[in-house]
Amino acid sequence: MTFVVTENCIKCKYTDCVEVCPVDCFHEGPNFLVIDPEECIDCTLCEPECPAEAIFAEDDLPAGQEHFIQLNADLAKDWPVITEQKDPLPDAQDWDGKPGKLGELIR
Ligand code: SF4
Ligand code: F3S
Repeated sequence: MTFVVTENCIKCKYTDCVEVCPVDCFHEGPNFLVIDPEECIDCTLCEPECPAEAIFAEDDLPAGQEHFIQLNADLAKDWPVITEQKDPLPDAQDWDGKPGKLGELIR
């Protein structure tokens, strides 16, 4: 199993999650983070840390978010690892909770 970053991270990118991951499996893109499923040890620590509630266990994904399993796996191969928290994106509060953000994803 793995944990998965889902749509509500897009354009928020709060990065609280990276501080608690014991195996550094978060990878950073311009406006989204993903989890490398080959590194995640299912420790569950990141899930409650996300202010946007964007992290779920693979088996517990909300309806309509299943495609983020493959997206995390694919983008983790392309993006660099992030291990330290940074400021969220400038309009994070405005975008938090907005539906249909997948079209905003910058690869
Ligand atoms: Fe890292 Fe644990 Fe979250 Fe997996 S569940 S991404 S190992 S903090
Ligand atoms: Fe994204 Fe939540 Fe981490 S918004 S960057 S998954 S803390």
